[in-house]
Amino acid sequence: MDIVLSGIRSTGKLHLGNYFGALQNFVKMQHENQCYFFIADYHSLTTHPTPEDLHGNVKQVLAEYIACGLDPEASTLYIQSDVPEIPELYLLLNMNAYKGELERCTSFKEKIRKHPDNVNAGLLTYPTLMAADILIHKANKVPVGKDQEQHLEMTRTFANRFNRLYNVDYFPEPVAYNFGKELVKIPGLDGSGKMGKSEGNAIYLSDDAETIRKKVMKAVSDAGPTQPNQEKPEAIQNLFTIMKVVSSPDTYQFFDDKYTACEIRYGDMKKQLAEDIINVTSPMRERIEAILSDDDYLRKVAKLGAEKARASASQTIKDVRRIIGFREF
Ligand code: TYM
Repeated sequence: MDIVLSGIRSTGKLHLGNYFGALQNFVKMQHENQCYFFIADYHSLTTHPTPEDLHGNVKQVLAEYIACGLDPEASTLYIQSDVPEIPELYLLLNMNAYKGELERCTSFKEKIRKHPDNVNAGLLTYPTLMAADILIHKANKVPVGKDQEQHLEMTRTFANRFNRLYNVDYFPEPVAYNFGKELVKIPGLDGSGKMGKSEGNAIYLSDDAETIRKKVMKAVSDAGPTQPNQEKPEAIQNLFTIMKVVSSPDTYQFFDDKYTACEIRYGDMKKQLAEDIINVTSPMRERIEAILSDDDYLRKVAKLGAEKARASASQTIKDVRRIIGFREF
């Protein structure tokens, strides 16, 4: 049986990228494996949220996980900051994580380029906290989107280094995982790059139908192909990539054939795409609203998750402390 773990930063509402990159995969696996899914609220502190925003975002994301089909009984659903063993393992792993390798991490380089005024130590050591998240439950499969591949590679480096340093075979080598074999990158609607919270190009699971229609109709496209079998430019490929995950294979094929024959009308394609996105997200949106209004239920879920997560995490920390050489007198 696999130990499966994944998490999402609590920096706001979930979007289609989070769902198709991580959550949907996880939901498919939760009944056959030992599964952990958590809200990465420590990770969200690198951008200094206000106390109100921090709490509100954690609550929103917890409700959204459940609305997407995460079963708090079948899997362990918890909030990172409820498990003090995670920051302890983070501290221990940091002793064997080197400044050079952390500085070479692509996501760190991107963050310092975008926010040169906030290059804090939390950002630099983001990969060791993520490794601690994964290794604390000795997970071996991590459903994530393509953008997290390098972080998983670093997790394997830290796990192997620990094993070698102490001459043990304790931590597994976790791999980034997607049910459909390939890791996915859901693009944004602005003609370039991936869908992201900070990019302003996202469709959120909680968006209502009208908002989704407006966003999709405004998505970047072009004047259309001029020759049969023309390669698709990035903005157009992006629309097809989203269509591939939300629409039926027949619908996808229909518009792909139209493109190939130079007969495509992007207005029609966008209308269909918007309706198919609405179809996927509207049952979730309705559940999000109901769950968000039930504080008692959310409190129970968080408490149960924290208990289950700590049971597993405390065993790991006990082992790790012993391996490192912390002993009682
Ligand atoms: P975060 O919060 O940026 O994103 C959460 C998950 O959503 C995926 N994702 C995407 N997948 C496909 N296309 C996109 N456009 C897209 N945008 C986001 C991400 O790949 C991720 O799986 N560092 C992580 C959170 C984290 C974590 C962990 C994940 C902390 N500790 C341990 C797994 C295991 C992050 O910032 O993801």
